[in-house]
Amino acid sequence: MDLSTTYLGLKLPHPFMPGASPLVDDLDVVKRLEDAGAAAIVMHSLFQEQIAREQIAAYLHTETHGESYAEALYYFPKPDKFALGPEEYLRHLARIKSTVAVPVIASLNGTTLGGWLDYATAMEQAGADALELNVYALPTDMDVSGQELEDRTVEMLRTLKQDIRIPVAVKLSPFYAAPAHFARRLDEAGADGLVLFNRFYQPDIDPETLDASRHLTLSSSVELPLRLRWLAILSGRLRASLAVTGGVHGAVDAVKALMAGAHAVQMVSALLRRGPEYLRHVRQETIGWMQEHEYESLEQMRGSMNLESCPDPGVYERANYMLMLQGWKAV
Ligand SMILES: Cc1cc2nc3c(=O)[nH]c(=O)nc-3n(C[C@H](O)[C@H](O)[C@H](O)COP(=O)(O)O)c2cc1C
Repeated sequence: MDLSTTYLGLKLPHPFMPGASPLVDDLDVVKRLEDAGAAAIVMHSLFQEQIAREQIAAYLHTETHGESYAEALYYFPKPDKFALGPEEYLRHLARIKSTVAVPVIASLNGTTLGGWLDYATAMEQAGADALELNVYALPTDMDVSGQELEDRTVEMLRTLKQDIRIPVAVKLSPFYAAPAHFARRLDEAGADGLVLFNRFYQPDIDPETLDASRHLTLSSSVELPLRLRWLAILSGRLRASLAVTGGVHGAVDAVKALMAGAHAVQMVSALLRRGPEYLRHVRQETIGWMQEHEYESLEQMRGSMNLESCPDPGVYERANYMLMLQGWKAV
């Protein structure tokens, strides 16, 4: 079965890869992922806050602003909250590059323009084959408009595209007023790929202890349809390639994402639960499914359920909402 795909301009034997996660922290696990046939390795992110912390610390140190030092750093997450500091991240990236033969995609995670983006150049020099820019923004500031946020992201992308030669993917959340328009703007600004979508981790409230608690719950396939909808809407309409992240737990999930138009299929929760070898299992099951349904290649299947090719495109549009609600009454 020909599963070959091109993602971010990288020619890959198939679309399956681990998404950004701590799976890459341990070189043995990275090797296991490669042995399980991962088409690429996506590193977890280096965060803007981490880089800013180091830069401020270095500045205050050299300028000997002793008193303001502790106070200034108070606002930044402590270094031990991150698996790797910026320099360690680059060293780890170089180690992964020398351990595996598949492409390595580094990840930068932040929301504003600034010197931290220079780390993209360092990542390229450390051997990254591509970069994911994760723009996980939580605009709690009432003075910040959606337009401003989108403009900022486009500017960040433009800066990266000027600074580095490796391809850049933008990992987005689904929470934009007009995701299709924004996707086109990113495409026009030179995005080589879009990764759909970030998961938002919601704090919960404990009414007894008055704590706002943080729990990272792994995903389930329930989260996939949101991604399917937007993959299907964007598929075939952009120069950028598309990756799905969020809710892929088995072969049928992967098949759906590919039919909706994905060029790459990223998995994290499923691999954290079942181990790196599960990636091979999902790929084999996908091949089995495609053979059973008489597909000859991934190319033949990709996008067959996107907005343009789907026999009932209304399913992705507002019409679907009305029909669903009316359908419920009739039951
Ligand atoms: C423990 C953990 C750590 C993660 N770290 C990152 C990260 O550093 N950068 C990033 O872009 N996404 C990160 N993610 C999000 C995943 O890459 C992925 O987008 C998300 O988990 C949805 O995919 P899934 O349903 O296959 O888990 C992390 C997810 C988990 C569970």
